[in-house]
Formats: sequence, structure tokens, C-alpha cells
Amino acid sequence: TDRTGLLAPGAAPTARPALGRPLELSIIVPTFNERDSVAELSARLDAALSGIAWEVVFVDDDSPDGTLDVLAALARSDGRVRYIHRIGRRGLSSAVIEGVLSTNAPYVAVMDADLQHDEHALPAMLAQLRTGLADIAVGSRYVAGGGIETWDRGRVKASRLATRAAGLLARAQLSDPMSGFFMVTRPAFMSGVRQLSGQGFKILLDLLASTQAPLRVVEVPYTFRCRAHGESKLDSLVVWEYGVMLLDKAVGHLLPVRFLMFIVVGGLGVFVHMAVLAALHAQLSFLAAQGLAAVVAMTFNFFVNNTLTYRDRRLKGVWALTRGLFAFYAVCAVGAVANVGIANFLFQAENHALTAGNWFVSGAAGILVGAVWNYAASSVFTWRK
Ligand code: GDD
Ligand code: MN
Repeated sequence: TDRTGLLAPGAAPTARPALGRPLELSIIVPTFNERDSVAELSARLDAALSGIAWEVVFVDDDSPDGTLDVLAALARSDGRVRYIHRIGRRGLSSAVIEGVLSTNAPYVAVMDADLQHDEHALPAMLAQLRTGLADIAVGSRYVAGGGIETWDRGRVKASRLATRAAGLLARAQLSDPMSGFFMVTRPAFMSGVRQLSGQGFKILLDLLASTQAPLRVVEVPYTFRCRAHGESKLDSLVVWEYGVMLLDKAVGHLLPVRFLMFIVVGGLGVFVHMAVLAALHAQLSFLAAQGLAAVVAMTFNFFVNNTLTYRDRRLKGVWALTRGLFAFYAVCAVGAVANVGIANFLFQAENHALTAGNWFVSGAAGILVGAVWNYAASSVFTWRK
């Protein structure tokens, strides 16, 4: 089948059915491996939204399961279905942002493809926004009339906890700030779009924390259904990203969270280094043990940074990882030279009363310069954008 969704030469073009009236509602649906759900979702939207001028925009991150073929076929037969095919990027939030930016509908809804969000809540959300009294209508599992079909105990607890943390940032009394199901006016979305972190799963919370003026929120109950096909992409690393986003919203204006993470990982690397040194110094010469410890620690730092600090630019595949690892060694080697050189310079510099002869200040300054260099250079040479 035709992956691009473009018509083969000579094929009869399908006319985009006239909406009869200007587009009012665009539903943005991020997809990753949702082959078995997207057609069903489109059909359900059609049934639930009669009388409303709507479109749906699927934003797919190059799903390997054939979702794009299904989307192309849908888009060809129904002019209200559009899709964006992204290559080389992953992420629910950034997919949603791109989808919203691709439409000029005055009202924009965000929902999951997997049929867990109840499309019957959409008309109620739209009615709320049409009154002009709210900027955003949030589908909530926790207000009267809402609920969760079946979740294991662990997930219920985790969700409660994350919800509590979120309340602090949302700047609104919200029973379900973690919801992935909401409808917002276009101007409200645009008022925060430049401040969005675009990372992870929590686009709603991100938006609520990002707009200049707090948004006026209403909640609309719905029942979170069970997933019918495929599997959830919310894994432990997504939870990690969520934590990073909260941290970024809390302190990101002071210091980039990525830098903080880099420093924390570097600190862990010191422990790894010392552990290796402790284990080997008796067997090998001190120089060999120290050298080996440094290589092990750098390798450890590389892989941890690759999975956590630079998750969004993660290197994959043997070749990319090898290249990145050696680039990281080279960056760290230069960083070590800079560290020692600067510390030594400050320690010797007689006209620097603060540092001359002061091992602590000189040493700390060397470490700081080395760390900043390692961070800046590795983001260019190892995890380049
Ligand atoms: N484009 C794109 N890229 N879409 C993605 C990606 C991605 O990297 N990861 C997930 N999606 C899509 C899925 O295909 C699905 O349509 C939707 O985003 C939600 O993903 P799920 O994997 O089904 O998430 P969930 O059901 O575990 O979590 C949902 O419920 C949470 C509340 O507990 C989401 O709605 C969360 O946003 C919500 O917080
Ligand atoms: Mn889901």
C-alpha cells in the first residue's frame, strides 16, 4: 500500500467532502502502534459528533505496525481524517503540539487512539467551551459520573500520587490533572505553546503550568475504558520523564534540568570509579587500576546519560552507540585536562588571593569548569540534535 497517502499517478482523487460550514473542532490523536484502533475511533467520532464540523488529525511517529497504511486509507476515503507522519522523533506531548499547530480550528481536543477515552464526552466539552466561560474542558475520571474501568492496585496508587504532585503545578483546582483527554480553545493553547516542555506524556499539566494567565478550567466526567488492542506505552521511563518535567517546571528557570541530571549522573560515576579502584588496586598497578576505573566510570556515565539525561536524543544501534561512546571519552578527556589545568593555574596564580595556595577552591573551580565543558561539549558532539 501507499505509505505516503499520496495518490498514485492516474488514480482518481477523492474529493474532500465539503463541511458545509467552517471547521469548528479538531481532534488531535497521537498514535504509536495503534493499527487496530484508528478506524474504529474514526467511526466512533463520526457517530458521536453529528451536527458538529469536525476533523481528526492523527500524529504518528512512524509506527512499525502498519498504522500509517490504515491512516492513509482512512484519509483517502474520508476528508475529515488527516494525519501527520513524523520520522525520527518520539513522544506523545510533542506529537500533540504538532497536531494542534497543524489546524486552525477554534476548538482543539486531545485524545488517545486506543479507545480508552470516551468520545461521548466531546460534545459536552464543546458545549462548555462555546459558552466562553472556560478555556479548557478536562475529561476527568475522578468527578462524579467519571471512573476507571479496571486498573490494578499499583497503577491506582501511582496515579493518585502523580495526581497530587501535579496539583501543585496546575494552578487550578483539578481532580484529574493527569488526564490525557481534554479540549481547549485555540487562543488558550497558543498562549502557552512557546513555554511547553514538549516532553513525556503530560501535555495537559504542561499546558496548565505554561500559560501566562491561569486557564479557566471545567471538568467533564468520563469513564476511562480498558485498552482494547495493543499495549500501553506508559513505561517506567515515561514516569521518569514526568518527574523531570515537574522538576523543570519547578526549577528550570534557574538551571537547566538536563544539566542537573548530568551532574547527578557524574556524581554516581565518582562512586563507580571508586568502587572499581577499591576492587582492583591490590591486583593491578595503581596507574592501571585508576585508568581502568576511569574508563568504567565514563562508560557507565555514557549509558546512564544516554537512557535518562538524553532520552529524547537517545543513541541506538551498535554503530551509533560506539561512535557516541568514543566521542564521550574524547570529551571527558579534554574536560579532565581543562579541569587539572585550570585548577593548577588558579592554585599557582599569585595575584589571585582567593585561590592561590587554596587547594579546595582551586580544585572545586577545576571540577566546575570540567563539568560545564563535559556537559556542553557532549551535548554537541555526543548527543547532537
Ligand atoms: N505519536 C506518538 N508518539 N503517540 C504516542 C507515543 C509516541 O511516542 N506514545 C504513546 N502514544 C499514543 C498512543 O498510541 C495512544 O494513542 C496515546 O498516545 C496514549 O498512550 P497509551 O500508551 O495508551 O497511554 P496510557 O493509556 O498508558 O496513558 C493514558 O492515560 C493516562 C492517565 O492515566 C494517557 O492518556 C496519558 O496521557 C494519561 O495521563
Ligand atoms: Mn491507553
